[in-house]
Amino acid sequence: MPSHEHVLSEITGQVRDQPDATRAMRAAVSTLKRRMPDYSWVGIYLLDGNELVLGPFEGKPSPHGRIPLGCGICGAAAAEKATIIVDDVNADPRYLACSIDTKSEIVVPIMAGNEVLGEIDIDSDRLAAFDATDQKMLEAVAALLAERMSGASR
Ligand code: SME
Repeated sequence: MPSHEHVLSEITGQVRDQPDATRAMRAAVSTLKRRMPDYSWVGIYLLDGNELVLGPFEGKPSPHGRIPLGCGICGAAAAEKATIIVDDVNADPRYLACSIDTKSEIVVPIMAGNEVLGEIDIDSDRLAAFDATDQKMLEAVAALLAERMSGASR
């Protein structure tokens, strides 16, 4: 498995080189899915009013194309404006099921200042697949995407 630092550096270049935010999101999703073996489903939700709307993703189709704020682990992370790691999704009453194979999940808000733009959502078929190293890398990816989404980088 490549190191988290290596994957972050690959994504940093890709996000910088894409001509727009949508392509930057797609590139980040694709690299995370391809490079991280435990990342079974990788997607980005974008905040639209009081709902999270599914944007670029890789993995099985999700039944949750729109998630109201406050619903699911995704809604909780957006409401709390903080990363949530769930080691065992079946033990978390907030969890909205996407696939019966999913065992753990991490949701990382994409923030511009204090404003939530969206979030990175990743599911794993392995229990407790995400730790502080994943959180650190994904929060850095979220910051890169936030810059592109808010037009601050170019
Ligand atoms: N599990 C999420 C719903 C989205 S799917 O994982 C793609 C949640 O509980 O919010």
